[in-house]
Amino acid sequence: MKKVFIETYGCQMNQSDSEIVGSIVQKDGYELTTDLLEADIVFVNTCSIRENAEQRVNNRLVRFGHLKRKKPWLKIGVLGCMAERMKDDLFLEHKSVDIVVGPDAYRDIPRLLEEVESGIKVANVLLSEEETYSEIIPVRLGTNGVSAFISIMRGCENFCSYCVVPYTRGKERSRDYRTILDEAKDLFDKGYREITLLGQNVNSYLWKEGEDVNFAKLMEMVAKISPLLRVRFSTSHPKDISEELIKVIAKYDNICKYIHLPMQSGSSNMLKKMNRKYTREDYIQKIEMINKHIPNCALSTDIITGFCGETIEDHKETLSMMDLVGYDYAFMFNYSQRPNTIAEKKFVDDIPQEEKSRRLDEIIEKQRELSFESNKRDIGKEYEVLIEGESKRDKNELFGRSSQNKVVIFNKGELKIGGYINVRIKDCTSGTLIGEVIN
Ligand code: SAH
Ligand code: SF4
Ligand code: F3S
Repeated sequence: MKKVFIETYGCQMNQSDSEIVGSIVQKDGYELTTDLLEADIVFVNTCSIRENAEQRVNNRLVRFGHLKRKKPWLKIGVLGCMAERMKDDLFLEHKSVDIVVGPDAYRDIPRLLEEVESGIKVANVLLSEEETYSEIIPVRLGTNGVSAFISIMRGCENFCSYCVVPYTRGKERSRDYRTILDEAKDLFDKGYREITLLGQNVNSYLWKEGEDVNFAKLMEMVAKISPLLRVRFSTSHPKDISEELIKVIAKYDNICKYIHLPMQSGSSNMLKKMNRKYTREDYIQKIEMINKHIPNCALSTDIITGFCGETIEDHKETLSMMDLVGYDYAFMFNYSQRPNTIAEKKFVDDIPQEEKSRRLDEIIEKQRELSFESNKRDIGKEYEVLIEGESKRDKNELFGRSSQNKVVIFNKGELKIGGYINVRIKDCTSGTLIGEVIN
């Protein structure tokens, strides 16, 4: 039986896609392996979001090329966003690549694997308006048996000016809610206790058949599967987050009190250029709406520094927004110009690399302080934690997360992974809470 090794880069949706690919090849008689050296086929599921994401993949492809010299029968496949963005050019840049498959063509992999056996190079990068891999039951890769992802939609049509995703992932489409519920129930029956519903903008999820099912309704249905099943979601575009959704999050204890709401920039000028379709004031209103209904809600964000024409004033507005919201966590990036995006065509990437990095450092430092403050506020409070695994630091400790998505470490005792436990927070660092078990 031929063995397939899958390596994944990029976002959670890509993780979820690799699990779909795993399921497709397994069904076709291939075996999955986690040992690169025993693989007959290597798939790299790639990301194009920033230049350094692509660079990382390029380096890996060079390494796989070396491996192929020792094992000439090895087949190398590039999947995902880089496959879609670069198409046949990948064959030119990496002589070792045999197969190129875009995000909507994974069902074609068994046929492509057969064709490639004759020594030719094969590609399928067709995008689809319907494909959601709806009925495919993903194999769970690298799982802790507690948390899993479920893709509820694909593609993106928001065309934020800096972003490559609408070009690599195609049109936005939602998956039949019944198959989402089936997958969630199946995971719960198998012992999973936390699922994260995934999409580039889950707020615009919509299944039109009989009575419309929007994202708020879907969340409610998933939350009702069992009070023991935690529900999370990502990502939520600020322009579309609704009061209806916030009320549903507030209503169900098992919907986690944590929202990732990427602001990108605190300056309305930048937001306009980014084509985000909200202003600084709109964003603040959304935050106020969340705080009104869910006072204990944790918030995280994505921030881009040094976008085209960003002034020091714009940058300061981002810093002041961070203070205003008091994010618990943030993902922070230097702007990286991507080929063929609106920003590449219309604006000049005019902030020097050094200045971008200087601004990024300021933002990272600000977030470190905010995260530490937020963790210090938790000292003395009690939280319910879902136990996810052993702490890397100490074998006698376990770690899990609070509903607010904060990592908590505590003593192992007789506790089991996958169970719930109440802890009181007694100490913290800027990244972790340290708790003591209270029941
Ligand atoms: N759909 C999500 C974002 C997915 S991409 C949303 O709209 O919120 C994840 C993050 O990568 C983005 O939020 C953005 O902060 C960052 N990103 C996207 N394109 C980028 C680029 N060209 N340079 C730097 N960061 C980028
Ligand atoms: Fe990119 Fe914007 Fe779509 Fe997010 S919403 S994936 S940032 S285009
Ligand atoms: Fe990267 Fe594609 Fe996800 S570009 S962030 S893997 S949708």
